[in-house]
Amino acid sequence: MIPSVLPTYSRAPLHFVAGTGTWLVEEDGRRFLDLGSGIAVNALGHAHPALVAALTEQAGKLWHVSNLYEISQQQALADKLVARTFADTVFFTNSGTEACELAVKMARKYWYEKGAPEKTDILTFAGSFHGRSSAGIAAAGTEKMVKGFGPLLPGFVHLPWGDHDALKAAVSDTTAAILIEPIQGEGGIRPLPDQCLRGLRALCDENGILLILDEVQCGMGRTGKLFAHEWAGITPDIMMVAKGIGGGFPLGAVLATEDAASGMTAGTHGSTYGGNPLGCAVGNTVMDHVSDPAFLAEVNRKAGLLRQKLEGLVAAHPDVFEGVRGTGLMLGLRMKVAPADFVAKGYESLVITVPAADNVVRLLPPLTITDDEISQALSRLDAAATAIETA
Ligand SMILES: Cc1ncc(COP(=O)(O)O)c(C=O)c1O
Repeated sequence: MIPSVLPTYSRAPLHFVAGTGTWLVEEDGRRFLDLGSGIAVNALGHAHPALVAALTEQAGKLWHVSNLYEISQQQALADKLVARTFADTVFFTNSGTEACELAVKMARKYWYEKGAPEKTDILTFAGSFHGRSSAGIAAAGTEKMVKGFGPLLPGFVHLPWGDHDALKAAVSDTTAAILIEPIQGEGGIRPLPDQCLRGLRALCDENGILLILDEVQCGMGRTGKLFAHEWAGITPDIMMVAKGIGGGFPLGAVLATEDAASGMTAGTHGSTYGGNPLGCAVGNTVMDHVSDPAFLAEVNRKAGLLRQKLEGLVAAHPDVFEGVRGTGLMLGLRMKVAPADFVAKGYESLVITVPAADNVVRLLPPLTITDDEISQALSRLDAAATAIETA
């Protein structure tokens, strides 16, 4: 008999009932160190007092009003994002997938309104992940995600990762945009080197095409800058954001320049919940914390500490790990053993990690992780590695 919850997830036998900071409490009382943050969502950890206060205060006033009316919390968050980024305008969504939908629509509408309706193609890359909607799976193109779900949304050109010649050759008169994650998350913490991101920006400028960055996983302070592309010193035309921006409340956004957004006039897009008062009350509080330069400096310092300790871990277990990669607190351990086996051993050592493609185990701790918790994380990861070696 089919379970009452549609069985699309393969779940670990863990049931968390509470969380504080970097810790998750299982219903049997065990305390797990959370190096996954709900896959880069709980940027400020679990039950951060400022987020609890923002949510409960707003919940006592007003949960929801339609986007037919002014929403001051939404306006405030948009203003903050515009002030701190390349963007001139923001649309709020409930998830990264919906941000992908709008980014694709916005790029196509841009060219339609500019009198070039033939420009509908979006260039994307192997190993990418942009969500599970029809546009999201068509964009990524991974067989596992698209098989059986056709006909797929047309207009995506899939390119190998890191093949500059293939990319240049793929740009044509029908190209609307390039869509890429500055650091692939699901794809296995594969960072795009800064010079490649600069090269992509130059290619877009030379050919007059739009650059869409998917910062759903790598944005909101995760790499030690507010957004990952800042490391390369370039700006996109359109950017997708989600996960960390809500700190656990479902919230996403599309940020865009005035020019890139010029096709999106009244009535061309909308969302019932996107940017509602509850979500934006939380989002404003996350933004206030994460965009603080002192907070980001701490993320960088702690990232350095974690990285250094992970290099030691890799050196101590050469049969388990191949290396460490990533930026800031978005790190991947490339494995010589099956990632799922290591993640499972981690559960026995009371540490949460997240598997990814390309033989990688992801470490995406809350950005608020402490030095002491980093040390505890290492002892637990070390115990998991030892358990694999002695199995
Ligand atoms: C880079 C990236 N884009 C888009 C998405 C889809 O976001 P959501 O699951 O919030 O719809 C994800 C989710 O993992 C992601 O990592």
